[in-house]
Amino acid sequence: MPVEINCDQINESIGLDECYEQLIDSRFDCNDIESFKSVAPLLKRLNNNRTFLAETLINELSTPATAQAKNHYTPQVLLLKAPAKHTNFFIRANIWLAQQDPMLQLAGEKSFYYHVPHDHNFHFLTSGYLGPGYLSDYYEYDYFSVDGYPGEPVDMTFVKRSALSPGKVMLYRAHRDVHNQLPADELSVSLNIMPSMMFAHLRPQYIFNAQCTHIERTVTTSNSSTEPALHLIARCGGQKGQEFLEHVAKNGVIEEDRFRAIKAITAALPDNSSRFEVIRKYGLNANSTMVQKMAQYYVEQLSL
Ligand SMILES: [Fe+2]
Repeated sequence: MPVEINCDQINESIGLDECYEQLIDSRFDCNDIESFKSVAPLLKRLNNNRTFLAETLINELSTPATAQAKNHYTPQVLLLKAPAKHTNFFIRANIWLAQQDPMLQLAGEKSFYYHVPHDHNFHFLTSGYLGPGYLSDYYEYDYFSVDGYPGEPVDMTFVKRSALSPGKVMLYRAHRDVHNQLPADELSVSLNIMPSMMFAHLRPQYIFNAQCTHIERTVTTSNSSTEPALHLIARCGGQKGQEFLEHVAKNGVIEEDRFRAIKAITAALPDNSSRFEVIRKYGLNANSTMVQKMAQYYVEQLSL
């Protein structure tokens, strides 16, 4: 499970700007677990500051035109220090609605990532700021033992259930820690130091089934518009577009995008035999087990 970092002896607090500056000065490496752990005391000091969050939000909302302008997350997430060119991290707060909250019942638990077991494709630090904290069933698995296709069995080890209680500081480890989050008993808030890296999405994040026995699907965190863009290229890209799609299908850095390109090419084809030929060429014969398995599943879906 995520590494718990004991910061109980840290009682002093700092402001958001001070925390941000000290994080920059520390030059910590968000790809390195030990380096990331070394800035946990800074998060704890910020966490000890009982007034900064409300003050920051009041300040933001005083200028509604620019409030949270760089925030591309769902309303659950508040950006406190947005990603910037000169930093390799950003700071955010997460709101965790209680089970009985009418807003949660309206939006549905899954939109708050409750009951959606998942790993992360980056390390990050978290702390419990307000309320009793969301609960998690924690698991661990070996990322390198799976290919990553939907439906693939995963050998998952259950570790324990625990809450992100107030003052607790934890480091989630990329591709290792899995958690199935459960609604908090009362409204809760956590603070995160997140890496802002260009390449995190090159390795997938997985969503697992409710029992954590299989991969349900992969999430490519930063490119949700890739698939429709590929389909548009297939429809109106002409010969150049066709060549581009074939190149992505064969050589794309992200395996999921290779499969997306295959789907885009086949969607524009007129008959099943030409569709199957493309899936065979770029999918079933791919040099990636993940692409092969996704292609196999696609052949079954299309009854080819
Ligand atoms: Fe998570």
